[in-house]
Amino acid sequence: MRRVVIFGLQWGDEGKGKVVTYFSREFDWVVRYSGGSNAGHTVVYSDDTKVINHLVPSFDIRSRACGYIGPGVVLDPLELVKELGELERIFGGIGERLKISNLCHVVLPPHKEIDASIDVKRSCSLSTTRRGIGPALADRAYRIGLRLVELLESGSQRKMEEYSKDLKVLYGVEWRDYTTVLEAVERLKPHVIDLMTSKRLLEESSILFEGTQGVLLDVDIGTYPYVTSSNCGVTGIEPGLGFPVSLDERLGVFKAYTTRVGAGPFPTELPGFEGDELRERGHEFGATTGRKRRCGWLDLPLVRFANEVSKTTGMILTKADVLNGIDQLRVCVAYKIGGRLVEVPSDLSVLERVTPMYADVKPWQDLRDPAFEKFVKFVEEETGVPVRYVSTGPGVDEMVAR
Ligand code: IMP
Repeated sequence: MRRVVIFGLQWGDEGKGKVVTYFSREFDWVVRYSGGSNAGHTVVYSDDTKVINHLVPSFDIRSRACGYIGPGVVLDPLELVKELGELERIFGGIGERLKISNLCHVVLPPHKEIDASIDVKRSCSLSTTRRGIGPALADRAYRIGLRLVELLESGSQRKMEEYSKDLKVLYGVEWRDYTTVLEAVERLKPHVIDLMTSKRLLEESSILFEGTQGVLLDVDIGTYPYVTSSNCGVTGIEPGLGFPVSLDERLGVFKAYTTRVGAGPFPTELPGFEGDELRERGHEFGATTGRKRRCGWLDLPLVRFANEVSKTTGMILTKADVLNGIDQLRVCVAYKIGGRLVEVPSDLSVLERVTPMYADVKPWQDLRDPAFEKFVKFVEEETGVPVRYVSTGPGVDEMVAR
C-alpha cells in the first residue's frame, strides 16, 4: 500500500492544497495529522469554484478519495461545521467520505480569545493566526484540554463546566456558552471514529499525508519561537496519527520565491517595492487571515535544510508562473557571517545577521522558455533533490511531471 507525504519546505503557503488535491485521486485516503484551522489550503477546481480548506483534508471531492482528520489535529467544531456547509453548498456535500478521530483536541472560542490576548501582551509578538491553536495545544500539555470523545459522551455538559472552572483559575477567562459548541460536535458525530477503527481502515489503504504550514514553522526544528505550535513537518506524522507508518515517498513543496506571514527572521526578504511586486504577482495574502505575506527571493539554504531534516525524496515546484516575464530574478545560494560561509543557524539572533549570497538567474518569459528549465536544473544541483513536478498555474489540474 502506497504511503506518501506532501509537506511544505518553507514557512507555509507553498501551494500544498492544490498539489494534495491533484495527487489525492491516486489514493484511498488523504490524512491531516497536525495543525488546525490556522492552515488555509486553497483549491481552485475551476474559474468559478474555489474552496479554502482549513480543516477538511484536501482530497479531490470529485474523486473516490476520502479524508481523515487524525488525533494530532486540534479541531474547531464550529469552523469545521461551517466548512462542511460550504462544501455542501458547492458540491452537494461529502457524505460518508470524511472521518475524524475522536482523540482530536477541540479548539473552543476562549482559545481564540486567549491566543489574541497573549500575542499582543507577550514580549515578542508572533502575529499568530488567532485561530486558538497554541492555547488549545497548551491545554493539551496541561492536560485540561477536551477531546471530541469527552464531548460526545453523556457527561459532556459536566466536562465543559469543569473546563470552564479551569479556564477561570488558570487564565482568568469566563466562558459558559457551551451550547453552540456542543451542537456543532453533535453534527460532526456521524464522522467520528476511534483509534482502532482508524488503524484498521488506514492499514488496508493507500494514504497521502497532507502536511500543514511548513518545516520552518515546525515547533521543534523551525525558526523557534516564530513557529506554529505543532510538528507540521514530516516528523509529526506518527504522533499525529497514533501509530507507526512507513513512507514510500516524502514530497516537499516549495515556491519559486519565499513568503512568510507573521513575525520572525527572513534573510531574503524584499521589504521595498520588489517585495510588493512579488506580493501583487502572486496574490500573496493569507488564505486564513487575509494578511499581507512578506515576500522575498528563493532561499536555497533554508530549502536545503528542510530537505535534509525531512529526507525529501522529491520536490514539487509551485508558483514559478508568477515570475513569468519578471525583469530581475535572484536566488540565495548560501549565507555568510563576517565573510565566512555558515549553515542555517539554530540561534535566531545569528540567523537575523546572516548575509545572503545571491546568484542572478536568467528570467523566463513562460514555463516553456529554456531559461526556466535551466533554473529548475540549478535548484536541483544546489539542493541535490530532484524536482519531480511543476505546478504551472493555480488550477488543480495545472501540473506537469518532469
Ligand atoms: P499560529 O499557528 O496561529 O499559532 O501562528 C504562529 C505563526 O505561524 C504565525 O507567524 C503564523 O502566521 C504562522 N502560521 C500558522 N499557520 C500558517 C499557515 O498555514 N501558513 C503560513 N503561516 C502560518
